Amino acid sequence: MTNTLKIILASAILFTFTFCEPKSAPKNNALTEAVINQKVDSVLALMTLPEKIGQLNQYTGDNTATGPITINPNKQQEIKEGLIGSMLNILGTKYTRQYQDLAMQSRLKIPLIFAQDVIHGYKTTFPIPLAEAASWDLEAMQLSARIAAVEASASGIHWTFAPMVDIARDPRWGRVMEGAGEDTYLGSKIAFAKVKGFQGENLNNVNTIMACTKHFAAYGAAVGGRDYNSVDMSERMLWETYLPPFKATIDAGVATFMNAFNDLNGIPATGNSYLQREVLKGKWNFKGFVVSDWGSIGEMINHGYVKDGKGAALAAITAGSDMDMESNAYRNNLEQLVKENKVSMTLIDEAVKRILHKKFELGLFDDPYKYCNPEREQQALNNPEHTKIARAMASKSIVLLKNTPLGEEKGARILPLSKNIKTIAFIGPMVKLKRANHGFWAIDLKEIDSSYIVSQWEGLQNKVGKNTKLLYAKGCDINDDNKNGFAQAIATAKQADVVILSIGERWNMSGEAESRSNIHIPGVQEDLVKAIAATGKPIVVLINAGRPLIFNWTADNMPAILYTWWLGSEAGNAIADVLFGDYNPSGKLPMTFPRVEGQIPIYYNHFNTGRPSINEDKIYKSAYIDLPNSPKFPFGYGLSYTNFKYSDLKLSKNKMKSDETIEVSLKITNTGKVAGEEVVQLYLRDKVGAVVRPIIELKDFQKISLKASETKTITFIIDKEKLSFYNEKVEWISEPGEFDLMIGSSSADIRLNSIFELTN
Ligand code: BGC
Repeated sequence: MTNTLKIILASAILFTFTFCEPKSAPKNNALTEAVINQKVDSVLALMTLPEKIGQLNQYTGDNTATGPITINPNKQQEIKEGLIGSMLNILGTKYTRQYQDLAMQSRLKIPLIFAQDVIHGYKTTFPIPLAEAASWDLEAMQLSARIAAVEASASGIHWTFAPMVDIARDPRWGRVMEGAGEDTYLGSKIAFAKVKGFQGENLNNVNTIMACTKHFAAYGAAVGGRDYNSVDMSERMLWETYLPPFKATIDAGVATFMNAFNDLNGIPATGNSYLQREVLKGKWNFKGFVVSDWGSIGEMINHGYVKDGKGAALAAITAGSDMDMESNAYRNNLEQLVKENKVSMTLIDEAVKRILHKKFELGLFDDPYKYCNPEREQQALNNPEHTKIARAMASKSIVLLKNTPLGEEKGARILPLSKNIKTIAFIGPMVKLKRANHGFWAIDLKEIDSSYIVSQWEGLQNKVGKNTKLLYAKGCDINDDNKNGFAQAIATAKQADVVILSIGERWNMSGEAESRSNIHIPGVQEDLVKAIAATGKPIVVLINAGRPLIFNWTADNMPAILYTWWLGSEAGNAIADVLFGDYNPSGKLPMTFPRVEGQIPIYYNHFNTGRPSINEDKIYKSAYIDLPNSPKFPFGYGLSYTNFKYSDLKLSKNKMKSDETIEVSLKITNTGKVAGEEVVQLYLRDKVGAVVRPIIELKDFQKISLKASETKTITFIIDKEKLSFYNEKVEWISEPGEFDLMIGSSSADIRLNSIFELTN
């Protein structure tokens, strides 16, 4: 058979398998697994080796690059030749259509997948993930991912590189902003919700996108909090603390995984067969595909794990990395490796199949332009409903750190502010910024201006009536030592009844490659706080940041502090809602805030040690001689404009067998004058274990809302799962013995206690 004939035949078969649906199957309905597998096999049978390798290849497009670009001037030609499977950083239906057009000129017309880091919203930007985690509101977080998917998919995107589920106990690491914080239980719940939000009911629905769980694995434990650094940890720690959020996304049906830059115990994650083959594709039976992190295949040379690109490609494909993002390692080496019998065709086919499978699931073979409808894009990117949801999400993410009573007037606090204040001075380098509110990993939509982002100044203007005068002074910049603006800021403060000070980190001081050894408020901003405090005016401080910062003077001396993170496009309105009590703050910290960097890594669920620091009188104890072990603000902490009373703790029984459960009930009463929400947190301590257990561990929580004076009874169920842990052989076990039950408003504010026993 001549080559031309082969191609004609092949195309005919492909057409039959991909474009002719059985009459009974309505168009756009999800295909069954068996049908997809059949279609995948039929396409695979037609592919040449270079075309197969092409599917494993991903390049960045023209939009803002998110890593060091490998220059390849032939990208467009390669797409036409079917040598590229996916592109990232191409945004908008106009551009994705242009690129898909190129793919449609290829021999087999296999559509491209367009990927993007849709981390916290697309055009409508939501709070950074760490901020959202502070809401402890799983439904709200699922919804924000849903809206992000609606907008991104309308803009031509099929795949987001989110959620990042790396547990992180080190706020020096800039990427803490991108995850759910330090806790495995909370992180797992959020990871699950995010995948459900992005992927919706079914990937075939045009308004869903594939999620990508990253970074597999343990990237958050980079030594010293320095990005890309090594990770060394016991297998038990890996399984108990770092892997559960990854597993949670498998349970949620996540489509893809991304491996990681770090080495884990000496083996780069990208070339790590244990992680990708044994655990992910083996034990967890993950059916989707794995993309490398940006250039991480090639970086195995720098790690000193392989000699050259060929070695890198061999290590990565063998270990189970299916797609090569921007390393060119597969493109340049896989064909030769197959010829030399170092990589089997089965290995290549397995990776290709996983990718084609997703293309079928997305419905791209039926209609490669399915996500390229400009009218839909126009509507989805200008939907006022999305704005409302972003505002609500932003309000829920704010944490009230302090609101102490003022002076003699017993009980009076600054917050919430009265709407009758005559003059408010809004001071600080963050007040009038717009982009700053988006934070790191916001989408850079070059064709859209930033007028839709509500600055904090605009938010305040929108909120106050005509009778309130607003004054502004910048005071200083975010990160330099210039105090020239202080005098004007002080003069402005003196004219006001209340001062709001907005300080924090520049939007790109936390994020990828933004590790900091010093996590104090940058520049002279805290000096500005001191200078304004000297005026004696009542002050509310807003702290905008992508990580827990250190601000001891402010924390000790300022009466009212809101941690406002980076809240997204509705930041200004959401902050104003909280400042004036239109939303009663309900956020709780998802990470421990240290007193000084010297305490890091710091996390709430540590072991007791043989010489716990509680023994105040002892010298030989596990403590620093120059500061307490306790953090500045603990995990789970956050205040409200009302108070909650915890009472009537009841356990259905005090002893349970491992196939039984205990029902725990308690009452929560809103004892204040305004409605509010409380995150009721359930912690356990396994008192004696085959391996030592943390002194306290979050095992459940409920976020409830209560009107003023309302009481609600809530229940939790304790089952064997909550009492289990990994033993020294990394087996998931439970052991008979006593458990402390602690229920509280934060990990350091336990309101109700009990003890129960597991008997077998
Ligand atoms: C990051 C990933 C990201 C990728 C693509 C990498 O540098 O580590 O999280 O998804 O770039 O932008």
